[in-house]
Amino acid sequence: MTDNEAILVMADPVRARQMVGNLVSNAIRHTPAGGSVTLSARADPETVVIDVADTGTGISADELPHVFDRFWRAEKSRDRQSGGSGLGLAIVRRLTEAHRGTVTAVSAPNVGSTFTLRLPRHSSSTEPGPRDLGPDLP
Ligand SMILES: Nc1ncnc2c1ncn2[C@@H]1O[C@H](COP(=O)(O)OP(=O)(O)O)[C@@H](O)[C@H]1O
Ligand SMILES: [Mg+2]
Repeated sequence: MTDNEAILVMADPVRARQMVGNLVSNAIRHTPAGGSVTLSARADPETVVIDVADTGTGISADELPHVFDRFWRAEKSRDRQSGGSGLGLAIVRRLTEAHRGTVTAVSAPNVGSTFTLRLPRHSSSTEPGPRDLGPDLP
């Protein structure tokens, strides 16, 4: 594909905005002035891959496995006035799974973090859409 070719993803638009928006607001919150937050998207034959990369504080190797847990926040995040409930990434993971996708993270302290969403690529009108999300979603 060319750089300008449209990449179509099969997703609920409200939930897609929530997935990307949570990752972007985390990236901005954890990146000091002078750093950068970069979004990029590419497509494999079956999958759309969206990266949200920051040059921020990063996450240590022992903390990284916990970031998608409900209510988990790094010690340094709990000290901050700003920030949320520790639910954002748990919601992102729940939403990606409901879209038959995944979310993963790689990070290095004091270098930055990259969160990667993988969602099914939209290629035909016959493929299944997102599963019924049910009434219990936050
Ligand atoms: N881009 C990031 N850079 C550094 N740490 C992050 C980043 N994204 C998430 N984290 C860490 O993961 C924790 C959980 O994130 P999240 O579930 O969105 O909760 P919240 O934003 O409400 O604290 C954050 O509190 C923070 O410690
Ligand atoms: Mg958050």
